[in-house]
Amino acid sequence: MTEQNQQRVGFPVPAYLVVAIVVAVIVLVYAGLRVSGVIGGKAAAPSTAPSAAPVVAPTPAPAAGNGKKIYDALCVTCHAVGIVGAPKFGDKAAWAPRLATGLDALVASALKGKGVMPPKGGNPSIPDADIRAAVEYMTAAAK
Ligand code: HEC
Repeated sequence: MTEQNQQRVGFPVPAYLVVAIVVAVIVLVYAGLRVSGVIGGKAAAPSTAPSAAPVVAPTPAPAAGNGKKIYDALCVTCHAVGIVGAPKFGDKAAWAPRLATGLDALVASALKGKGVMPPKGGNPSIPDADIRAAVEYMTAAAK
């Protein structure tokens, strides 16, 4: 029985091996097309990137841990001692009028820049959510 089946194919290749090879070829071609940008190409990337940002921004949970990290790495440069007119970290009097404008307004200032402060404290690679976390960290210390 088995020998007859193999004779019909012409050479002794089990069916599962044929299926495995076909699947492997499909996967490799698909992967190759993806890498070369034919599928899910570069044209789609810029349109998804900006729309993803606002979705990330309002999630405070994972960002909370980064607030201090971002502050210590960057914002501290100006806000620790209050150089060039920056509201000093933990200085309630300096922050009070700014806190009155609301967290969203302060986050917007940090994102876009204000006065001498450059957008995102000068590091545009920081995700919006982390900037927000840093502002939350700073404002929490000034309440
Ligand atoms: C180059 C110095 C500098 C760096 C770095 C910097 N800031 Fe500032 N920041 C300022 C100055 C100056 C002001 C006051 C701007 C004004 O009111 O004109 C300010 C104001 C702010 C305010 C109040 C904005 C408002 O609307 O009143 C927030 C919030 C703030 N910074 C957050 C941050 C965060 C978060 C970072 C780090 C990602 C950061 N800053 C990094 C200089 C800096």
